[in-house]
Amino acid sequence: MDFNFTEEQLAVQEAARDFAQLVLKPGVIERDRGAIYPTAEVKEMAEMGFLGMMVSPEYGGIGMDTISYVLAMEEIAKVDASAAVIMSVNNSLVCWGLEEYGTEEQKQKYLTKLAPGEWIGAFCLSEPEAGSDATHQRTTAEDKGDYYLLNGTKNWITNGGTSNIHLVVAHTNPELKHKGINAFIVEADWEGVEIGKKEDKMGIRGSDTTSIMYNNVKVPKENRIGADGFGFTFAMNTLNGGRIGIAAQALGIAQGAYELAVQYSQEREAFGKPIAKHQAIAFKLAEMATDIQAARLLIHRAAWLKDQHKNYIMASAMAKYFAAEMAMKHTTEAVQIHGGYGYVAEYHVERMMRDAKITQIYEGTSEIQQIVISRMIEKGVLY
Ligand code: CAA
Repeated sequence: MDFNFTEEQLAVQEAARDFAQLVLKPGVIERDRGAIYPTAEVKEMAEMGFLGMMVSPEYGGIGMDTISYVLAMEEIAKVDASAAVIMSVNNSLVCWGLEEYGTEEQKQKYLTKLAPGEWIGAFCLSEPEAGSDATHQRTTAEDKGDYYLLNGTKNWITNGGTSNIHLVVAHTNPELKHKGINAFIVEADWEGVEIGKKEDKMGIRGSDTTSIMYNNVKVPKENRIGADGFGFTFAMNTLNGGRIGIAAQALGIAQGAYELAVQYSQEREAFGKPIAKHQAIAFKLAEMATDIQAARLLIHRAAWLKDQHKNYIMASAMAKYFAAEMAMKHTTEAVQIHGGYGYVAEYHVERMMRDAKITQIYEGTSEIQQIVISRMIEKGVLY
């Protein structure tokens, strides 16, 4: 077992760390307060290759492995979880799905713009009445010969109003249940695509989350991804990888809060000594350090399995489940350690606590991860 990173992986980690500290950090409180999308910062992320990290250079990406991706994601999320989710969706849910399952024409037309971040993508699976229960899609795509007629509403879409391309999951034959689902590439400016209002969220406020309505949108046949009926498997397989990215986002948020808690508790004095020297705080920090490292190891293992082309379904669900729960618990503790200061924006940890919450919800709630893990156990996979 080799716990060392390659020089390339370390260089990516360092570049992401510098970018986060120098570019993302200065405006992060204002963007959170005003729910301001980081337009200029996303452009810079694109220029650095962070929006198509795992895509082959042939299609405009930088061809890195999943380990490099999670190292970069942790550094970005440590400072700005909103920027991290924009990066995560474009990399894991949009670019990965297209490179893995798209036709050569689809890759040339779309991936070559998405990987260098000229275009941004959105992954449209959730619906007002089908969030966790992804098999029960209400959105329909009716086969009209040389095109599909797409109708329905998608909810909670990250990059909803700022994306150029939507990967949309819809039922083409509800009688076939999940085997009658397909996924389509839809361009945001096509007739009939309507972006709903931007959600006023508790956390990740710099990211843009909207509903999207599709009203009689004509989707050319060549924009279906994979064989007829492949859409549900496409969504599940794509989410398996996406969950590694969200786990790394949760890890970064927790690491950021932990570092601030360490610094604050070593500087702040009470009862004649730094509060870090009181066991009540020291034990909290010890638990944080241990849980964060445990999450990191789960994430790196899931990323490694993916890079080795081994089965990573259970590993990614475990990583996301543990990292999200851990991030919520320890960002809350970081606020507690800061006392009253933790409750105000300029100390950052209250934002991190709000940002951590969504990692227990999107790309499958913690309960969905438990379902995925328990179904693997039923199949005889024990870890
Ligand atoms: N990977 C691969 N295949 C999977 C899978 C997985 N993780 N989970 C299920 N499948 C397969 C099953 O093997 C089965 O295939 P076969 O028919 O070939 O045997 C098929 O899918 C149906 O599986 P189930 O019978 O288990 O389906 P289900 O309806 O009981 O439950 C579920 C499936 C795991 C709960 C699934 O619906 C799920 O993952 N739901 C959560 C969806 C989700 O994560 N939504 C997040 C939205 S995306 C988002 O948040 C993006 C954003 O903007 C940030």
